[in-house]
Amino acid sequence: MIEFQNVSKSYKKGSKAVDGLNMTVNNGEIFGFLGPNGAGKSTTIRMLTGILNIDEGKILCDGHDITAEPMAAKRSFGYVPDSPDQFLSMKGIEYLNFVADIYDVADRKEKIRTLTQKFEIFDALNNQIESYSHGMRQKIVICGALLHDPDNWILDEPMTGLDPRSAYDLKEMMRQHADSGKCVFFSTHVLDVAEKICDRVGIIHNGKLLFVGTLQEMRDTFKENTSLEELFLEITEDAQTNI
Ligand SMILES: Nc1ncnc2c1ncn2[C@@H]1O[C@H](COP(=O)(O)OP(=O)(O)OP(=O)(O)O)[C@@H](O)[C@H]1O
Ligand SMILES: [Mg+2]
Repeated sequence: MIEFQNVSKSYKKGSKAVDGLNMTVNNGEIFGFLGPNGAGKSTTIRMLTGILNIDEGKILCDGHDITAEPMAAKRSFGYVPDSPDQFLSMKGIEYLNFVADIYDVADRKEKIRTLTQKFEIFDALNNQIESYSHGMRQKIVICGALLHDPDNWILDEPMTGLDPRSAYDLKEMMRQHADSGKCVFFSTHVLDVAEKICDRVGIIHNGKLLFVGTLQEMRDTFKENTSLEELFLEITEDAQTNI
């Protein structure tokens, strides 16, 4: 479970990248975090994961405050960042062993084999990550994030670059994880995917949360018989003209 309590962040004086965000992601649900480019999604996720300091407010992960109890909060989640271009000089297997060391993962050999075979990168584990394609880098980062079997999955645009098979598998894994009573929080621009798999969505624009709820609630509020894509465009364009 993830709770945002009145969270704000500015990179420069006078403009808030995230502005008074209040939102809860419950256990048992897939929650899609949507918004145009520059809306504040990655900033929110970087505060949630402790990479960025929070200016105002609080973020709790399974009840642990990311600022006051960073270790307990961090143990509770796995994080896929928006760019997979990290640890490039390591071999895939070195990276996963490094992650397994940090989280003290038991049965790592078996877990690494299962995850990497699922994403079809097992055979590339002895190569440097630098030699991987974008999609393969995305896959190794996903494997690293899930290796310690975290309760809360935090995924910043996880489908980017994945081939159809892997995107399908990841979506299935997200569903199973949520159905087992755990929490999946992810950002995406792929509204067809969000429409299919999310139990609830939040729409952020210019740092402000414009909507949070189920797709049906969104339709009840804005327009009946409409796709998420059309609703999204209507909600975010309305907000733009109000500025
Ligand atoms: N490191 C930074 N320094 C200064 N401004 C930043 C920085 N990172 C983000 N911003 C600004 O903060 C705002 C929110 O950016 P953010 O990356 O959170 O958006 P996003 O919703 O993740 O967008 P995208 O869909 O393109 O990934 C933007 O106006 C952006 O220019
Ligand atoms: Mg982003």
